[in-house]
Amino acid sequence: MLAIMPTVTLTLPQGAYDIVIEPGCLEQLGPRLREVAPHAAAAIVTDEAIEYTYGLTAARSMKDADYSTTIAIMPQGETAKTLGTYRDLQEVMLNARLERGSPIVALGGGITGDVAGFVAATYLRGVPFVQCPTTLLAMVDASVGGKTGVNVPQGKNLIGAFHQPQLVLIDTDTLQSLPPRELRAGLAECVKHGVIRDEALFEWTVANAPRLLALESDAMVELVRRNVEIKAAVVMADEKEAGERAHLNYGHTFAHAIEAATEYKVFKHGEAVSLGMMAAAKCAVDGRLCDPSVLERVQTALEALDLPVRAELPPPIELVDAMSLDKKVRGGTIRLVLPEAIGRVGIYGDVPYRAIIDAWDVLRPG
Ligand SMILES: NC(=O)c1ccc[n+]([C@@H]2O[C@H](COP(=O)([O-])OP(=O)(O)OC[C@H]3O[C@@H](n4cnc5c(N)ncnc54)[C@H](O)[C@@H]3O)[C@@H](O)[C@H]2O)c1
Ligand SMILES: [Zn+2]
Repeated sequence: MLAIMPTVTLTLPQGAYDIVIEPGCLEQLGPRLREVAPHAAAAIVTDEAIEYTYGLTAARSMKDADYSTTIAIMPQGETAKTLGTYRDLQEVMLNARLERGSPIVALGGGITGDVAGFVAATYLRGVPFVQCPTTLLAMVDASVGGKTGVNVPQGKNLIGAFHQPQLVLIDTDTLQSLPPRELRAGLAECVKHGVIRDEALFEWTVANAPRLLALESDAMVELVRRNVEIKAAVVMADEKEAGERAHLNYGHTFAHAIEAATEYKVFKHGEAVSLGMMAAAKCAVDGRLCDPSVLERVQTALEALDLPVRAELPPPIELVDAMSLDKKVRGGTIRLVLPEAIGRVGIYGDVPYRAIIDAWDVLRPG
């Protein structure tokens, strides 16, 4: 019997696109791309590690679908998410004489997707873009929703554009080679989705933690589908983050402060989000916005997924200073996304300074 693989459709006023979730679907990249961006030439942007592991599969599929494909390889890691890399990639596109209709495919994690997407948004004032995410974080979060950009010394993601893809092709088999720490970092964003929108998903994730950590194929497909559905629904309701899309920042104001105060060297983003969700839940409990069991359940979920819930951090005063520099701050006020229950959050701009300082206490080791 043929299994029917899930496709989530994201619809916006300017058009709709499919998010295909299927083990092994990278082999169909060429024909799938033909359906959305038929052109003679195309480019794949990938990082060194991914090129080695999956580049050949993607390139062969493109060749079989009669694309003349330029492969642009960028360095790995957050330090490569720069205007310099962006300029180098534009140079590759120009030298390859890619045209208006030539699609750019991002093959890799969120870094590749964010930089390649920004190139696609601006090369010849915008060319078709396709995402083939290969980290869990990119599958459930970064590849869906059209945010693209690069970091500058002044901060993360400060230069960029909204540029929606024409297609997101998620081959969950690629997760098999993902280092465990990267897998867990993606799982933190999945816990976040449960807390902000979906108690049943939250419970399912906790109950299936051992299968998820063991990368069981069926469990990964279900996890990615359910999380993509949430991310897509939030983006459909509020593409440009005028309101509801900000719910996705649950735990993130605390997390960005942790990342900045530790110079992005100690924690992976997802690990900082894990800690940030704990602090935000503590803040909500202390402010009587939710029942104390919410914090306990968040902690149980994170521990089941081997994510950090305590850490040695700089003093809270320093961390709150870092929170005020976050780009989500408006008019000098720290706006926090806080849980009201598992499955529901609100945005609060009036949390007292003292309460934010105290929330950090929950992370103190011992
Ligand atoms: N655009 C958005 O809406 C959005 C949302 C969330 C995060 N982001 C961005 O995403 C970035 C983080 O993305 P990430 O965590 O995917 O990092 P990443 O792209 O650096 O990937 C993590 C590491 O895993 C390697 N890797 C990727 N796939 C692999 C695989 N299948 N097997 C083995 N190794 C693999 C990569 O080479 C890299 O070294 C951040 O810059 C963040 O700002 C963007
Ligand atoms: Zn995040």
